[in-house]
Amino acid sequence: MACNITNIMDEARKKYVKLERFVPDKRRWPERTLEAPPVWCSVDLRDGNQALPIPMSPAKKRRYFETLLEIGFKEIEVGFPSASQDDFDFTRMLIEDDLVPEGVRISVLTQAREHLIRRTVEALAGVREAILHCYVATSDLHGRIVFGRTRKEVLQMAVDGTRMSREAIEDAGLSGKIAYEFSPEEFTDTDLDFAVEVCQAVRDEWGPSEKQNFILNLPATVERRPPNEYADMIEAFIERYGNLDGTTISVHSHNDQGCAVAGTELSLLAGAERVEGTLFGHGERTGNVDLVTFALNLMSRGIDSGLDFSKLPEIAKMVEEASLIPIHPRHPYAGDLVFTAFSGSHQDAIRKGVDRLDDSAALFGCGWKVPYLHIDPADVGRKYERLIRINSQSGKGGATYILEKEYGYTPPKRMLPEIGALAQKLADESGNEISAKELLAAFEKEFFNPPAKHVLRKFSRVEPKNPDMVGVEIVLDTGGERETLSGEGNGPISAMVHALRDSERVVEFTLDDFFEQTLGHTADAKAAAFVSVKRSGDGKVFYGAGTHVNIDKAAANAVMAALNRASM
Ligand code: KIV
Ligand code: ZN
Repeated sequence: MACNITNIMDEARKKYVKLERFVPDKRRWPERTLEAPPVWCSVDLRDGNQALPIPMSPAKKRRYFETLLEIGFKEIEVGFPSASQDDFDFTRMLIEDDLVPEGVRISVLTQAREHLIRRTVEALAGVREAILHCYVATSDLHGRIVFGRTRKEVLQMAVDGTRMSREAIEDAGLSGKIAYEFSPEEFTDTDLDFAVEVCQAVRDEWGPSEKQNFILNLPATVERRPPNEYADMIEAFIERYGNLDGTTISVHSHNDQGCAVAGTELSLLAGAERVEGTLFGHGERTGNVDLVTFALNLMSRGIDSGLDFSKLPEIAKMVEEASLIPIHPRHPYAGDLVFTAFSGSHQDAIRKGVDRLDDSAALFGCGWKVPYLHIDPADVGRKYERLIRINSQSGKGGATYILEKEYGYTPPKRMLPEIGALAQKLADESGNEISAKELLAAFEKEFFNPPAKHVLRKFSRVEPKNPDMVGVEIVLDTGGERETLSGEGNGPISAMVHALRDSERVVEFTLDDFFEQTLGHTADAKAAAFVSVKRSGDGKVFYGAGTHVNIDKAAANAVMAALNRASM
């Protein structure tokens, strides 16, 4: 095995070489902090859709488009109309049925070839505002190997594509309504000076421009570099390119090395102003940058992203249905498991953090600082009940949290280790996560309804001999034998304990702990009681619990449950 790995690494050293690195004289981006969101452009319906094993139906695309509007996207790339009839028809439907609200621009992608550009512009007839997005790959890999062209010829492709775009827009009478976006595809694998030269030539060809109508999108088409190198390239591009008053600099990251979110953030520090990406990172191969993660990262630092993900579970469901690809349970923010703690110590810390939110807010001067939860799950539409789930790693804190939050039980502190052990045993036996319902059933079986050696048939208050005391009478069945017993004490429970002591069938015990609570807040709320008894002889303590609308009877049931547990 070791030998095999050595061979692979030897091979790798020869097979893969680091891309030539652009090293700037001075970097400014590492000193900066992101303070504001970028202009967002969703490319879900183009880059996202073109990478799905089963592309979306028109109905799904429409629902998706509507969701993107609800989230707050103002720029949405809706397709590649010259490459797909579906995309052409979808673009037409959006325009003809007036589905694009004012202030929102749709974008369409085209290659830099005349008939494709003309067909793309045809798809935009009648549009209020749109972006025509043209791309030419500028890397030598593409130029030489894919196109068989020199750099000069590649530059000419970009300039020609821009001229043909401008002319097609003019011919369609759409000048002033359609902005132009140019992408030097494989920007991060392109010689930086060449990328600048191409983009300057493109800008000159497009003519006078404003930020709003001229976008240069600098993609990491394949993530071949670490995020800091992407940022270096963006910063240097911006410095060399100039004319920033008339150009929006956009980034478009793919996730081949798993760093698209980082690459995007560092590129914004380096001066980019606009971000293209998709929900949950759908897109070619490993996908585009995930805008859900990126926007919510900003929110977690107090930056208003301008995108609304307060209904994230519904958004996630829509995307799953449209893409037919499930979202990973550990996806940041949307994954099933990401606001859940299984480990006992984490559960305990979360429980304390949530219970003491006011204290931490005062301490840290914010509204939310909770151990293990960097945002409030409610802000992305997640419910608290799922924060804590039980498996064999969970401790008493988790089980108690669920019994309290879901069912209203607040057992006494000394009982918690036993509850934790019960949950642990259950999880060990099942080898699985245990649900709240399973936990409740086990809790009730163990503490409320243990195997009954003794059955309490009747419990009633009676006139005491001593008027300062409370008197009770009980009827007890033990193995088919019935006894009627009575006792007095300073309360109904101590009276019952005295009555039980008269029976020879009941194990000797003393009352150890007693706690009662109401379940619910209405006048008819049930009472719950928790009692522990100490068995004489070995001194072992046993808890029992009972519920009843009558508080005395709840306590009597709890005593019987504790005694039955002590008699097993
Ligand atoms: O990844 C990419 O480079 C693209 C371009 C078309 C912008 O999707
Ligand atoms: Zn892409």
